[in-house]
Amino acid sequence: MTGKILQRDRAEVDMIFDEIRERLEEELDYYNEAANLNFFANAFRDVPGIRVPATHPSLCTGRVLTMDRLPGKPLEEFLKDADERARQQAGLNLARSFFVMVYELRALHADPHAGNYLFEPDGTLGILDFGCVKRFDEYFVADYARVAEHGIAGDKHTTLQLLRKLGGLCSEDPGAAELLWELVEIMAMPFRAGKFMAGGPEDDLQERTRNIGPRFLRYPEIRTPRDMIYLHRALGGIYSMLRRLQVSANWRALSRPYHEQAIKRAEGRV
Ligand SMILES: Nc1ncnc2c1ncn2[C@@H]1O[C@H](COP(=O)(O)OP(=O)(O)O)[C@@H](O)[C@H]1O
Ligand SMILES: [Mg+2]
Repeated sequence: MTGKILQRDRAEVDMIFDEIRERLEEELDYYNEAANLNFFANAFRDVPGIRVPATHPSLCTGRVLTMDRLPGKPLEEFLKDADERARQQAGLNLARSFFVMVYELRALHADPHAGNYLFEPDGTLGILDFGCVKRFDEYFVADYARVAEHGIAGDKHTTLQLLRKLGGLCSEDPGAAELLWELVEIMAMPFRAGKFMAGGPEDDLQERTRNIGPRFLRYPEIRTPRDMIYLHRALGGIYSMLRRLQVSANWRALSRPYHEQAIKRAEGRV
């Protein structure tokens, strides 16, 4: 029934619910969250502009989680008196936190809504709530980096071939391939524009995504593979904060070193 409503087949719906069950179970276990916090606090210790609270292990149990209190305000409070420089800095920190987590740590904070971030007056970012963390293997991350690089470069053939390999396109129907490519082109747009301001006058990403949305119902063979669901949810959450912050950057220059490094690593070249 649910499969029918979602226009997806049973196996795909089961896969999604299994994944939700696993993540929910982890989220209810504070030992798990404390271990995640320690991992990320350590990883970001020397990254300027990004903070993760340290835990106090002697005061933690499976039901009590004790950590440092981070300074900073929620996004909307921060926006009330942040100057341009602080907004840009906060946005770059947000974007950088995503790239570091996905491409270097291969472990992603998977609950990317504004309530889980704090912003200090200079744009320093505090990340909270590591109950839900998704880990990726280096081959998936490298393939996703390849999709991003070829998609940005406009190489339709290679991009679609990679998406087939990842399980994102499961038919030869040219209509399906065409639609998926349209989505890639929309997502690639900020990375092609030189400097691009999220939420600026040129930013019609939300509108364009909304417009092509209904057409996906016709093609159940276009799928979002399990790992990619997390990536895109995180991208969506971060992008909506970047819009509020009106961050302008050369997104291609920012992301490329992370993509290249991830590809090299999976090929055993570093
Ligand atoms: N270490 C911290 N420092 C400062 N504020 C925090 C900290 N941890 C949580 N908070 C505040 O508590 C709120 C809820 O915490 P969070 O870890 O996101 O729990 P939940 O699982 O209920 O979303 C956050 O939005 C933030 O305002
Ligand atoms: Mg939260």
